[in-house]
Amino acid sequence: MFFRKKTAEHNYSFLGADMHNHILPGIDDGAQTIQDSLALLTALKSMGFCKVIPTPHTYTALYPNTPETIKAAFDILRNNLENAELGLPVVDAFASEYMIDDHFSSIRTRNQPLTFGGNRVLIEMSFADSAPMLMDEIFQLQLQGYIPVLAHPERYPYLFGQTAYFEHLVAIGCELQLNLLSLSDHYGKGPQKTAIKILEKSLYTWAGTDTHHMGHIDLLQSLMASNIFRKIVEYPFKNKALV
Ligand SMILES: [Fe+2]
Repeated sequence: MFFRKKTAEHNYSFLGADMHNHILPGIDDGAQTIQDSLALLTALKSMGFCKVIPTPHTYTALYPNTPETIKAAFDILRNNLENAELGLPVVDAFASEYMIDDHFSSIRTRNQPLTFGGNRVLIEMSFADSAPMLMDEIFQLQLQGYIPVLAHPERYPYLFGQTAYFEHLVAIGCELQLNLLSLSDHYGKGPQKTAIKILEKSLYTWAGTDTHHMGHIDLLQSLMASNIFRKIVEYPFKNKALV
């Protein structure tokens, strides 16, 4: 007979809400069908998320979504949630992940950007090239009363290790959002090392799963069992404020 040492059970309930994911069906490179959406939501709930705020891409070149196309996909999900079994996370709001490109300024001025957490706008940049208009777009969003939140700053190759730049972004009022899977080596060593640096500097405000498919769910499960997980459980992310 042997005794197994009891270890603390960890899951993502310390975050409560996931504010970056692609679980709405059929409008970007995330869930393609309502069945995909429900499977992802079921898995997120089982890992401790009690609320999920979908953030499909608004990216003119690839996923030219508008508040209307996103609302339509959200309504499809809501109609199916009513029929689905209980025990899924709350999905009562949606936002978007806006690509900062040449089209963004007209999206910002013509449509009201979709927001989460009150007046926050989730933005991203190309992984290939830096966006020279980033600083101006941050400023313009702020002038319009929004708080910009840069998605996964650790994932942009041209920003690997650029701690001073991240400190500057936070100083000018741009919040930063960690992709949880950056802490594994899923996106590579550059994002992993950069994420740890940003964490150690306490520059992140938010954490998100950026879930697109079940492969991400499997990796999020593995992350729960890793040593780094203890570090993020203790980090004061603001996600709980969204619940
Ligand atoms: Fe994303």
